[in-house]
Amino acid sequence: MQRLTNKRILLGVTGSIAAYKSAELIRRLRGAGAEVQVIMTHGAEAFITPLTLQALSGHPVHQNLLDTKAEAGMGHIELARWADVIMIAPASADFMARLAAGRADDLLTAVCLAGDIPLALAPAMNNRMWRDKATVDNAKKLTSRGILLFGPDSGEQACGETGPGRMREVDLLINDLADIFQVGSLTGKTVLITAGPTREPIDPVRFVSNHSSGKMGYAIASAAVEAGAKVILVSGPVALAAPDRVELVKVETAEQMLQAVQSRMPVDIFIATAAVADYRPVQVAKDKIKKQDEIMALALEKTPDILAETKARFPEVFSVGFAAETHDLEAHARGKLIKKGLEMVAANWVGEAAAASGGTFGSDTNALHLIWADGQIELPLASKARLARSLIEHIAHHYDDCQRKGFPKTNNVVNLKKPGKPVA
Ligand SMILES: Cc1cc2nc3c(=O)[nH]c(=O)nc-3n(C[C@H](O)[C@H](O)[C@H](O)COP(=O)(O)O)c2cc1C
Repeated sequence: MQRLTNKRILLGVTGSIAAYKSAELIRRLRGAGAEVQVIMTHGAEAFITPLTLQALSGHPVHQNLLDTKAEAGMGHIELARWADVIMIAPASADFMARLAAGRADDLLTAVCLAGDIPLALAPAMNNRMWRDKATVDNAKKLTSRGILLFGPDSGEQACGETGPGRMREVDLLINDLADIFQVGSLTGKTVLITAGPTREPIDPVRFVSNHSSGKMGYAIASAAVEAGAKVILVSGPVALAAPDRVELVKVETAEQMLQAVQSRMPVDIFIATAAVADYRPVQVAKDKIKKQDEIMALALEKTPDILAETKARFPEVFSVGFAAETHDLEAHARGKLIKKGLEMVAANWVGEAAAASGGTFGSDTNALHLIWADGQIELPLASKARLARSLIEHIAHHYDDCQRKGFPKTNNVVNLKKPGKPVA
């Protein structure tokens, strides 16, 4: 399981013979879903090259406190703000002494002082250095300040001696680090969400679209990140900023949305909140259409049904649809559930009925009626952010339920229609 999905780890590497192990550590942290940035002390540079750690982390390695290239010239503050946790592995005896003394005369110690986040050290040194009263006192000082010590372990050492002081094994360090974070209901899962409207072009300057703001889909993306998921957000044109830690894929048309979704399948959970245009102009004029006749007819054809087609192609993906209805909400939502073979439908009122329930396109509140094969629940009017969190918890619960009962479930998709005949 990717226990560190979305987590930002700032890895400090100091001048120990165990510094070569930091290369494997970075690889394994990324494999566990984390993003990693590295700070090296000048001592560490004698043991392993910044180039190696840069290539493995996918980020430039930070080395200098007094760095004019850092944004606003305050790299230590920027890095401390960026990280969820700082881990120093290996941590040398000298580094422990500097940290215990509250020094801030190199980048790594300065970041440790500036960070208001968990700080963990994996000491690595000769057993006599570790047992020396100075190091013992420093370790005590550090733990009394809430700094975590992972290890050291006991065993054979690079110097040929045996005893305590070996850096803890990489696997164990990853477990220790993951234990710092709460496990979310979707930790390690990949969730793909569609949001916003689509735009179907009429000519180079005009299009067919709808009033969807994308707010609900974006709120669900943020809630899924909070729950520990890796989130891909495929979004039509909206005026919203990309949520933090989400892979945002921008599209315009239904066809582009379909391609973007299916090229990223399979995922664990697919939540289709986008208000995809049902019809698109049969022909897109190459040049701007001139104003001429009193009445102009626009021939439209059906767009692909992204949710139905994706579920039919990837039946193993737990799929949640959205239904916006002006009447017979429950009956229509249940019909959609069965027709498209979905695991869940989240239905909400639109139009006049929505005004009565307090939520509509573009508003910051909404209410949902959640429906699944053998149950349903009302999620009452709340801010879209709060509603999204509640929805994600229900989805996670039913996803787990499906997994327990055996997945994929029977796929009862019936006769999917291809884009049909134009309607005038
Ligand atoms: C070959 C060699 C190996 C070393 N290994 C360690 C080590 O494992 N642990 C340690 O605390 N110091 C070790 N040292 C000493 C540190 O490199 C030295 O104290 C240095 O100043 C640490 O600087 P830094 O903490 O800023 O990286 C070693 C020195 C040499 C020459």
